[in-house]
Amino acid sequence: MDLNGRHVVVTGAAGGIGKALAHRFHAAGARVVAADLNGEGAQRTAEELNAVRAGSALGVAADVGTEAGNVALIGAADDAFGQIDLFFANAGVGTGTDLDTPESVWETAFAVNTHAHRWAAKHLVPGWVARGEGYFCSTASAAGLLSQIGSAPYSMTKHAAVAFAEWLSITYGDRGVKVSCLCPQGVNTDMLNGGALGGENLGGSVVRSAGVVLEPADVAEVVLQAITDERFLILPHPEVATYVQRKATDVDRWLGGMRNLQARISG
Ligand SMILES: NC(=O)c1ccc[n+]([C@@H]2O[C@H](COP(=O)([O-])OP(=O)(O)OC[C@H]3O[C@@H](n4cnc5c(N)ncnc54)[C@H](O)[C@@H]3O)[C@@H](O)[C@H]2O)c1
Repeated sequence: MDLNGRHVVVTGAAGGIGKALAHRFHAAGARVVAADLNGEGAQRTAEELNAVRAGSALGVAADVGTEAGNVALIGAADDAFGQIDLFFANAGVGTGTDLDTPESVWETAFAVNTHAHRWAAKHLVPGWVARGEGYFCSTASAAGLLSQIGSAPYSMTKHAAVAFAEWLSITYGDRGVKVSCLCPQGVNTDMLNGGALGGENLGGSVVRSAGVVLEPADVAEVVLQAITDERFLILPHPEVATYVQRKATDVDRWLGGMRNLQARISG
């Protein structure tokens, strides 16, 4: 899909990958709705975009961890710029660690990392099928194809996010609905640095030891190209494809390697 003149919604757009996506899509000519639980941050992103092209962006405070939050966001975007062409479900949380993770943390992880995608799609796809066109992209993670050492909730919810995107593509791909799924490894954002993935558990050091940490703008560049090409799997770290192949070839060997990595990191 060529994003010039299109209406794009990006969730988690107050900072990190979401903000970089909002800027890149806007530079490609899109009108952009920047949504985030952090309403002030979303507003700031929209102000930056409107400073480049007046009236081309809207900042929305939205909790995508509820169905009502997704419905309200889609309504606000429709009111501002008409039917959405591309919805980018990028918001995510890196909270939770092991078997002792509190139930409320599990619930938030599933709500934001997985159910949010389903709720958005539920309220977008019928309109897209009727129109014969629409694009759904989600941010999962390389952890959704492999695993996240140190976080069971992150591993599970990101696998579920990949599974949902695949299902959506299989079910609606022949009815005009394009689907892509972004699966990065380390990206230099609050989540990796100060946030839950970096601080609360082993995640940050694992991600750093696993390979290159990319800048959000570099990820956004790869994403724009993939959306232009309408490719399903977006791997800003191309080595992830090799890891997935190795896992599929010999899962016991792969699990052994992951256990060694975990032991090395936890010292
Ligand atoms: N940084 C990495 O290394 C990395 C790697 C792979 C995948 N990811 C994924 O990339 C996505 C973006 O994360 P990031 O790295 O830019 O981190 P980030 O913390 O900068 O961005 C996440 C954003 O999501 C927002 N958010 C959280 N809960 C929300 C909710 N209920 N409703 C609306 N917004 C909500 C946050 O306020 C924040 O602005 C996430 O899905 C994350 O899991 C990140």
